[in-house]
Amino acid sequence: MIRAPLHRLALLTSGGDAPGMNAAIRAVVRTAHFNGVKVTGVMDGYDGLVNGTLRELGPRDVGNIIQLGGTMLRSARSDTFRTSEGRAKAAKNLRDAGIDALVTVGGNGTQSGAKALIEEHNIRIIGIASTIDNDLFGTDRTIGFDTACNTAMQAIDRLRDTASSHNRIFFVEVMGRDAGFIAVRTALASGAEYVMVPERKESVDELVNVLESRSKHKAGSIVIVAEGDEEGGAFRIAAKVKERCPHYDIRVSVLGHLQRGGSPTVSDRVLASRLGVAAVEGLIAGEQGCIAGIVNDDMVYTPFRNAIAKRERNDQYLVRLLPILAV
Ligand code: F6P
Repeated sequence: MIRAPLHRLALLTSGGDAPGMNAAIRAVVRTAHFNGVKVTGVMDGYDGLVNGTLRELGPRDVGNIIQLGGTMLRSARSDTFRTSEGRAKAAKNLRDAGIDALVTVGGNGTQSGAKALIEEHNIRIIGIASTIDNDLFGTDRTIGFDTACNTAMQAIDRLRDTASSHNRIFFVEVMGRDAGFIAVRTALASGAEYVMVPERKESVDELVNVLESRSKHKAGSIVIVAEGDEEGGAFRIAAKVKERCPHYDIRVSVLGHLQRGGSPTVSDRVLASRLGVAAVEGLIAGEQGCIAGIVNDDMVYTPFRNAIAKRERNDQYLVRLLPILAV
């Protein structure tokens, strides 16, 4: 680790927003202030870095935001930054603004972009793991995941009421891109009868067997489908089931972007605060080229190349519990 002076850092949020991003912004800005480091906020993710849309951020600018969903710096999925010309412009803007280091708050795409910026322009960067998908390696949880699961669970609780009243089968599609973390946790938390995730090979036949055995003594069933499941989205799977069992009364509900909004939970606020502090303290201590994460309640810094590699399937053991509990 090489300690270099840190007078000013830049901070951006990028990719899909996640509840708790504002809490992370607050923590970065206030920890920097505590250590005499100035902060430049970058608007609109990497787009703002390319266009030079920068603003000064002091400790009072981040007051009263810890409880807010979304991100006060706004976010984007930048096409320009995906080009080497775009990244060169971004690096030049950082240098021209006298910025010594960058903190990138976001998920897989954001941290891949950070890795490219380091490789091509040798920028000092620490990433903060923030995505509702929870698909980064090097942290047990990413910011926003807990809130998204709670939001999905509350929606499914409501769907359960109407599913039971009408003896219907609800197929509920949740987000997660190509990972099933949200699906598995919300399935367990909402007492779902079955879950379909990309990490596991399920078959429609197996699903039909489960539904058949449950329908003998239960009114209504909930099947959670991760959006990235190989069998297709909730509509396609529902259609396949209906084909085999025309007597079923089936409805489909795609929860979509509502899972990205809302006030962050306690867990996400605390996680975001810890990671924000860790990012700044890490930069001061000479860490760079890594994400700040929490593993087994300890702060760890994981190199970008490992963090963005496919995440371990460590929530899959929860799938085993579903048939035991949803009898
Ligand atoms: O990565 C977060 C996420 O919400 C995924 O779960 C989802 O697949 C994707 O973003 C949706 O992206 P967009 O907001 O660009 O439609």
